[in-house]
Amino acid sequence: MPRPETESVVGWAIDAVRAMDVVEPLIVDLCTGSGAIALAMAQEVPRSRVHAVELSADALKWTRKNVEGSRVELRQGDARDAFPELDGQVDLVISNPPYIPLTEWEYVAPEARDYDPELALFSGEDGLDLIRSIERTAHRLLRPGGVVVVEHADTQGGLVPWIFTEERGWADAADHPDLNNRPRFATARKALP
Ligand SMILES: C[S@@+](CC[C@H](N)C(=O)[O-])C[C@H]1O[C@@H](n2cnc3c(N)ncnc32)[C@H](O)[C@@H]1O
Repeated sequence: MPRPETESVVGWAIDAVRAMDVVEPLIVDLCTGSGAIALAMAQEVPRSRVHAVELSADALKWTRKNVEGSRVELRQGDARDAFPELDGQVDLVISNPPYIPLTEWEYVAPEARDYDPELALFSGEDGLDLIRSIERTAHRLLRPGGVVVVEHADTQGGLVPWIFTEERGWADAADHPDLNNRPRFATARKALP
């Protein structure tokens, strides 16, 4: 199962895909890590086709075991240029990427800081480097009307929806709380032409 913070992200995504009324929804999970999000989507949206990408070879050893026997198509690669063959076709892009600002290194819980790889935690000075790249990847992958959902730190709720602007081809950008009512994930819809 995803972490409790991520559960609300996955719950929102499941509802969004079900509401689309697409027979075999195409779903992409960027930065899949253990594969928990991709597996939850495949399980809860029975006829979905789920593709997942992860950069770390070390993480992938476990991910491969986790997704064995499931419908998740796993690939090693970079979220920034992943799945060019799916451009313009995807119904939903979901991601729980690294998002901790490097400036907050000293405040991160020691059990995470000392044992989780840096690649899984940090993303530039303000923590938003990869989310900015995911915005471009999601826009490339989604069909018009498709949606993106991205988890972020509880301090970033006022920032992330502003990455998904109308000028960059998005509509309905919004932020949402987690189960503890803390700002936790942003969503947006790829604008229709
Ligand atoms: C915060 S962890 C989240 C893992 C998983 N999505 C989850 O919710 O449990 C972020 C993951 O992103 C991966 N990652 C970091 N940069 C990446 C990139 N450029 N492309 C693909 N994966 C990346 C890390 O290796 C790590 O597994």
